[in-house]
Amino acid sequence: MASKLPDATKGLGAGGMDVEDGSGGGGGGKKVAGRWPGFVHFFFVLTVVTCALVYAPRFLSPTVPVDFLGPRQPSSGRLPVRVDGGRGNEGDALVLDNQVNSPCASMGAHGICCDRSDFNTDVCFMAGEVRTDAASLSFLLFPPQAPNGTANDANATVAEKEERVRPYTRKWEKHLMANIQEVRLRAARPDEADAHRCDVRHDAPALVMTAGGYTGNLFHAFNDGFLPAWLTVQHLRRRVVLAVLAYNPWWAGTFRELVSGLSDHHVIDLLHDKRTHCFPGAIVGTRFHGILAVEPARTKDNRTLVDFHDFLAGGYKDDSTPPEATQQQQQPRRPRLGLYSRRAALLQIAPLGVPHVARGCYEKATAMMEMQYEQYDAAANESSLVRKYPADDVVLRDPEAATRERGWDLTARVYLGGQNVSLDLGRFGDTLRRLHSRALRLPVAGP
Ligand SMILES: *[C@@H]1O[C@H](CO)[C@@H](O)[C@H](O)[C@H]1NC(C)=O
Ligand SMILES: *[C@@H]1O[C@H](CO)[C@@H](O)[C@H](O)[C@H]1NC(C)=O
Ligand SMILES: *[C@@H]1O[C@H](CO)[C@@H](O)[C@H](O)[C@H]1NC(C)=O
Ligand SMILES: *[C@@H]1O[C@H](CO)[C@@H](O)[C@H](O)[C@H]1NC(C)=O
Ligand SMILES: *[C@@H]1O[C@H](CO)[C@@H](O)[C@H](O)[C@H]1NC(C)=O
Repeated sequence: MASKLPDATKGLGAGGMDVEDGSGGGGGGKKVAGRWPGFVHFFFVLTVVTCALVYAPRFLSPTVPVDFLGPRQPSSGRLPVRVDGGRGNEGDALVLDNQVNSPCASMGAHGICCDRSDFNTDVCFMAGEVRTDAASLSFLLFPPQAPNGTANDANATVAEKEERVRPYTRKWEKHLMANIQEVRLRAARPDEADAHRCDVRHDAPALVMTAGGYTGNLFHAFNDGFLPAWLTVQHLRRRVVLAVLAYNPWWAGTFRELVSGLSDHHVIDLLHDKRTHCFPGAIVGTRFHGILAVEPARTKDNRTLVDFHDFLAGGYKDDSTPPEATQQQQQPRRPRLGLYSRRAALLQIAPLGVPHVARGCYEKATAMMEMQYEQYDAAANESSLVRKYPADDVVLRDPEAATRERGWDLTARVYLGGQNVSLDLGRFGDTLRRLHSRALRLPVAGP
């Protein structure tokens, strides 16, 4: 059951090192499956550390808080994030789909609409009275009630066709998606209402997402899980009920701040809760804009990755300090790193053989955060692989060629799963100095 740490060597896609995000731009989709296939699911080495540093310092260091998430100056030309994420949900009809140019963006007050145009993800929307059917893992859409309480002639308005969707953002990765439960959506006949009486009535729509997939890995928890969920429902301003597949205590405990940042309501454990839940609408599946990406032009309210950062900062802000302590001013000052100024930089150490992968995961996101990205590529003599392979082995001599020859399996097993890096501090120091000089806008000191 539930999400577990993915096996580092199994279930990785095949393919070369080129990294593409396969975001598909919201329409059609680049055929990149097999190129950016599952490599990321065990960035235990440094990238996860980096990710954790940026997004969740608490995972790393409960005793020495490193506050990456402190207040951040709004960048020029953009207002600070509005708390009211969306429009049109105050008094107006419920707007479920916040995505520009989605076929579902203009759906009416009653109906089922699925957007399957994206390369990475399918999302379905149900507007109207929705009830769960636990036995078949279905969401049923009931026809609107006439003022008299009689059923309208709704047969004509909603197609009989049943929609099925697996709510995860890697739909091109078949073997993985097979493990994501399939949720069914269909229109119900009025006469089915008696068999599906509401046990729990919610006054907010449901978002169906999963705590499964690769969620056991931090990078994926954010990239495939929380960022997409945020993209999908941030405009609802927490007026949404998370109905979670593969729900488990680890997920709920580890990410409780994010869960309550997304929703004001209790989470529903969709596979184990056998009650009939009723909602004024439902969203099944989540949006995806690319690796750790938010494309402002694709959200109706021009959201950016900085807004997501602010969402995280809000969730993780430390308000556990008792008021007296704050007044005394005797607290040791917490270190505050980065992310304040637009000159901030993020330095990633890429182990031997994975510089493209490392860059593909974080470079774009770093730019979207208006920070400078710098990468330190470990050389063979810094890798523990020098003790495993003869010096002239292609694995050490030419990792790119080795990868081209032996594919993703080599990357997964050897470069990602099988090496440690000991930094050459001299060379690393040069990198740091270069970064520092650039940050100060000074000429780089020559050797
Ligand atoms: C609702 O009731 C009104 C008056 O009682 C009646 O005229 C109307 O036809 C009813 N509508 C339906 C859908 O039964
Ligand atoms: C709706 O469809 C069902 C099954 O096809 C039929 O029995 C029922 O009479 C229809 N209701 C109306 C109001 O047309
Ligand atoms: C989003 O950005 C576009 C282009 O910059 C602008 O035309 C539009 O008014 C913006 N929309 C909102 C809701 O701010
Ligand atoms: C390790 O390799 C790098 C790049 O090939 C080289 O610049 C560096 O001098 C080497 N360091 C040692 C200690 O051999
Ligand atoms: C990497 O370092 C850890 C901690 O020292 C060690 O347990 C592990 O076996 C090392 N792995 C390799 C491939 O050297």
